[in-house]
Amino acid sequence: MSQPRTVIIVGAGIFGLSTSLALRAKGHNVTVFDQHDYIQSRYDPEHHPNGQVASVDHNKILRPSYGTKIHYQRLALESREEWLKMNKDNDSELFVGCGMLRAQPSAHLGALEKETLANMERDGLRDTQFVKSNADDRQRAADRGWQDKLLDFNIPGEDVGCHFEAVLDSLSGFVKCSEACAYLLDKAVSLGVKFVAGADAGSFESLVIEGGPRGTGKNGRKVVGIKTGDGVVHQSDTVIIAAGSFSTQILPDLSYHLESSAGSVATFKIDKTETDLWNKYAPDRFPVLTWKSAPRDQNGKDSGSVYVFPRTENGLIKIGYRGIKFTNFVPAPQGTAFTQDGKWSIPLPYAESKSLPEAATEAIRQFVSIFLPEFATRPFSSTKFCWYTDSLDNSFLVGFHQPLDQAPQLKAQTNTDGIP
Ligand SMILES: Cc1cc2nc3c(=O)[nH]c(=O)nc-3n(C[C@H](O)[C@H](O)[C@H](O)COP(=O)(O)OP(=O)(O)OC[C@H]3O[C@@H](n4cnc5c(N)ncnc54)[C@H](O)[C@@H]3O)c2cc1C
Ligand SMILES: *[C@@H]1O[C@H](CO)[C@@H](O)[C@H](O)[C@H]1NC(C)=O
Ligand SMILES: *[C@@H]1O[C@H](CO)[C@@H](O)[C@H](O)[C@H]1NC(C)=O
Repeated sequence: MSQPRTVIIVGAGIFGLSTSLALRAKGHNVTVFDQHDYIQSRYDPEHHPNGQVASVDHNKILRPSYGTKIHYQRLALESREEWLKMNKDNDSELFVGCGMLRAQPSAHLGALEKETLANMERDGLRDTQFVKSNADDRQRAADRGWQDKLLDFNIPGEDVGCHFEAVLDSLSGFVKCSEACAYLLDKAVSLGVKFVAGADAGSFESLVIEGGPRGTGKNGRKVVGIKTGDGVVHQSDTVIIAAGSFSTQILPDLSYHLESSAGSVATFKIDKTETDLWNKYAPDRFPVLTWKSAPRDQNGKDSGSVYVFPRTENGLIKIGYRGIKFTNFVPAPQGTAFTQDGKWSIPLPYAESKSLPEAATEAIRQFVSIFLPEFATRPFSSTKFCWYTDSLDNSFLVGFHQPLDQAPQLKAQTNTDGIP
């Protein structure tokens, strides 16, 4: 092991938590700062101040289907193994392996789907995927108990019996996101990671830099800690920024690579007394379902998707739309590395993140009318924007921050989920 270091992590979302555990396991002295007090709120999605944080949520998809990007397929399956271990450790279902049905834009397999299936084949996993129209696949699905999730959905405007092609992926499912974060927080605390939370003590205010102000020369400039909202300076050997879609506001140089943009989320609520719906949409009967409404265009671009989760234990059915992603351009602070006409996109305050633009509502309603017909006329129980941290190529951004000084003193880590 290298020398134990003192490490500060800004952000206690899923990335900050998992990084803290990995570094603690190597013997480092780790302190995590967050503006929200998750020890108290337990990442509860109904707890309002957390409303903008991507990791604070009922559920998120875990899937290895990434078209030609086989490195993401492999990474997702490595991560799946870890989730299965956590399920065992916690004697609970933090990851629910309910499967995911990838409904195609038409009665035929789309281009992205063919690429995914080819990569599954390449890694010897083709048997875990069931193409709805394929007799061998249907048989295998039946043998393994997956046949009831090979659902038929009628194509609007076509004859009854003309269904969307679909592929059921038996490796996928969803993670109970907030519950998992609470579990990892407890685990980190029990292993000696320290947490400093709250709007003052836990809130990042500035980096503490030694060696003179920026631009005074190459030598000696070094990040030596952070200052928090209460004015306290915390020293450390390394500072890691894992602040999700807030990261550019902490380290404006990240604006070269990252931009906050919003996906749209809507929920329906069902009650246990609605027995048919309660049973139909339970995770043991209903998979995660995603649909791309349009095929790949002539420029090789895939359309976004709409997706729905099985109901939660509280009867929430959550739908996400990842077609148009919405931005919130506001004037960027003086000296921001990269702006568009002096502006940059950052998350809207939570209070303004709760109603969706018409385009998103329409896309979700179209999806509901085809795939969740019982809800066609039911009002949404809630709607909100959920803030992505988009990178230029939709990949992870993990690395040392070079411009500041000679690395490695400051590490930025954030990501998108890379759904093509
Ligand atoms: C709509 C939507 C749907 C998604 N669906 C999926 C999915 O199905 N599957 C999937 O794998 N991924 C999905 N993602 C992506 C996934 O949610 C994110 O990759 C992940 O949650 C990001 O975690 P994070 O820790 O990087 O950031 P966050 O969860 O945003 O956490 C950042 C933390 O930093 C803290 N912070 C910010 N600023 C400060 C400050 N100044 N001082 C102190 N603390 C601060 C915040 O309070 C927060 O706790 C989705 C994302 C969105 C937006
Ligand atoms: C860990 O770091 C904190 C400062 O971040 C310091 O107060 C503490 O003494 C350190 N502990 C060890 C064992 O080095
Ligand atoms: C599972 O994790 C939760 C949250 O940390 C905890 O309260 C519970 O005791 C854990 N259960 C087991 C069996 O470890």
